[in-house]
Amino acid sequence: MAIISDDEGIRKREKKNPIIKPENIEYDNTFENSIRPKDFDSYIGQSSLKETLKITLEAAKKRGKPLDHLLFYGPPGLGKTTIAGVIAAQMGVEIRITSAPALERPRDIIGILMSLKGGEILFIDEIHRLNKVAEEILYPAMEDFTLDMTTGKSQTAKTLRVPLPKFTLIGATTKAGELSSPLRDRFGMIHRLEFYTIEELTKVVHRTAKILEVEVTEGGAKAIAMRSRGTPRIANRLVKRVSDFAIVKYDGVIDENVANESLDILKIDKYGLDTTDRALLNLIIEKYDGGPVGVETIAAALSEDVRTIEDVCEPYLLQAGFLQRTPRGRKVSPEGYRHLGIKMPSLQTSLFGDE
Ligand code: ADE
Repeated sequence: MAIISDDEGIRKREKKNPIIKPENIEYDNTFENSIRPKDFDSYIGQSSLKETLKITLEAAKKRGKPLDHLLFYGPPGLGKTTIAGVIAAQMGVEIRITSAPALERPRDIIGILMSLKGGEILFIDEIHRLNKVAEEILYPAMEDFTLDMTTGKSQTAKTLRVPLPKFTLIGATTKAGELSSPLRDRFGMIHRLEFYTIEELTKVVHRTAKILEVEVTEGGAKAIAMRSRGTPRIANRLVKRVSDFAIVKYDGVIDENVANESLDILKIDKYGLDTTDRALLNLIIEKYDGGPVGVETIAAALSEDVRTIEDVCEPYLLQAGFLQRTPRGRKVSPEGYRHLGIKMPSLQTSLFGDE
């Protein structure tokens, strides 16, 4: 096996995939990125994860070694990218952020791996969507920090073993179950991010309002938190929307009334369900007698992508108890009927039972 070094190649690839410094994680300058917390103290919620991470980070620093590879999973918007940025900042290293669909060709993942420097973090979002070839390139990279490359064809083919710097891979996914077990097994720590409580979201709202320099009362913050579906990303967006209303229609202060009236106008109900969520529940009730019905049928009827239904709408509807998942498809629960103000048909005892 030959050992190769490819400084020129690395420089070229760095141009294509610039490294993102943790303090500059707002690389695309979106609102969401501009308000991301940069340290554990300003990162609200996920307390058990934070405690574990603090210990793991300190141990890695004391040993002078990079962190183990980490896998975060859970519904979108709960702060997987954000916590990766916090980890990078706390370790004083740079983070490169990419997502599995951007790593379509082998050279995409090879290029990124070869341009990493010792201790750096590679963050791969939607890691369950990584293709087989990219996954196989990652195995030796994660395990032995090497890249096995084959050059030439058949009889003249040579395998080159390229050493890589010791890096940490942070993978994020909404679907841990779709990760192959060899990939899952190569993570030293796997952690599920939980939906946030109303108290935690109220703190997120206060923090974001402060950054946006809008005044919010405790009642206003709580009203927004209650309609944020347990998700800080949604809380942050609602703060922005409600602050627009507060400025244009009221005196600029977000109190309970301003928050509730604005969110009513935005058609976000008191459990945070939006028009799509309610359309989904209504569809199952009206067209399929409350279910069960398959997710593909639901997506087609709503002209939505199956992935949007599964990843965005369903996790909260399931968590809130409005929807149930059965082997034969989705069913609206008695709570779901109650929330929409629709009477649930009384259960008829069939000769053949429920199924
Ligand atoms: N914005 C998004 N996630 C956050 C969190 N966990 N804490 C504070 N602000 C956030």
